[in-house]
Amino acid sequence: MSPGSARVSVRPPAEQVSAQQFAEDVAFYLTQTPRQLPSRYLYDDLGSALFEAITRLPWYRLTRAETGLLKTHARAILAACAPLTDAVELGAGSGAKLAQLLQARDSGSDALRVHLVDVSRSALTAAARLLVGLPATQVITHEATYEAGLAEFRRNQAGAGRTLLLFLGSNMGNFDPPQANELLRQIRNALQPGDLFLLGADLLKPERELMLAYADPLGVTAAFNRNLLVRINRELGGDFDLASFQHRALWNAAESRMESYLVSTRTQRVRIPEAGFELSLHDGETIWTESSYKYSREGLFGSLQDAGFARRQAWVDEDAQFALILVQR
Ligand code: TRP
Repeated sequence: MSPGSARVSVRPPAEQVSAQQFAEDVAFYLTQTPRQLPSRYLYDDLGSALFEAITRLPWYRLTRAETGLLKTHARAILAACAPLTDAVELGAGSGAKLAQLLQARDSGSDALRVHLVDVSRSALTAAARLLVGLPATQVITHEATYEAGLAEFRRNQAGAGRTLLLFLGSNMGNFDPPQANELLRQIRNALQPGDLFLLGADLLKPERELMLAYADPLGVTAAFNRNLLVRINRELGGDFDLASFQHRALWNAAESRMESYLVSTRTQRVRIPEAGFELSLHDGETIWTESSYKYSREGLFGSLQDAGFARRQAWVDEDAQFALILVQR
């Protein structure tokens, strides 16, 4: 079946990540100290495709570890959640991980509504195509940020039975701890008592492994990061000179996070007319594009408990140091 068929509904973007919002965010964040750009803007069509390529790199083990856990433990995870009427994934990307889990459902299973929330329309289209092929599955796509997608899911929840909400890929790690805790509380509030929440989170590991994962020798991560400048040039009329920016990754041990930067390799001036400003960058000046926090198991359970969840089960890939944690509202 194709996403145009009756089993896929496409919700019009509720609070679309509009061109105006992009322009405002670029103007605001690039003039902060330190200069930064919100990481959700990395995922335009090309950015999403480059991220899919990252997930196949030998040095970026996170996605394979998580997919492996979902595949190996699919029956146990589904059994712990049964009976389900709804599944919601925040940041669904290609949908491959959710498909891995859901294909372990019994052939005679009751109908399941699958809600996919993502800021990338091309990712949603691909994910819907993949998931609608599963038995008794209806797919609803939400082209929205996590917050707007959650709010929309909650508004349309009347009649829903038990829900499993998935937040995978260690995407929580892209938020600072206070924002991450706030998002966990929003997730809890979008759910009803008895609903389940499956969190995929990358654990602390040696710096040498982290550096290879976030500054790969093939340069795919560098392309992914620099594509943010390509996007600003295209969508906001910017004149970033791609050749004078480099990708840099740093491990910040005190904050327990990987940091990704774009570094200006010369003194330069950049104009971004549709965001209404100009920028002077000196040689070596950085623009911070993403943090990826790494966690301890105890820390994760603590945050989930503080957000109002009860611990159910955890599955850990000890080799890659990645955890899937199931909690219940
Ligand atoms: N959410 C992913 C992560 O934190 C995204 C990511 C991987 C990323 N590599 C990156 C973001 C490099 C910016 C730069 O692992």
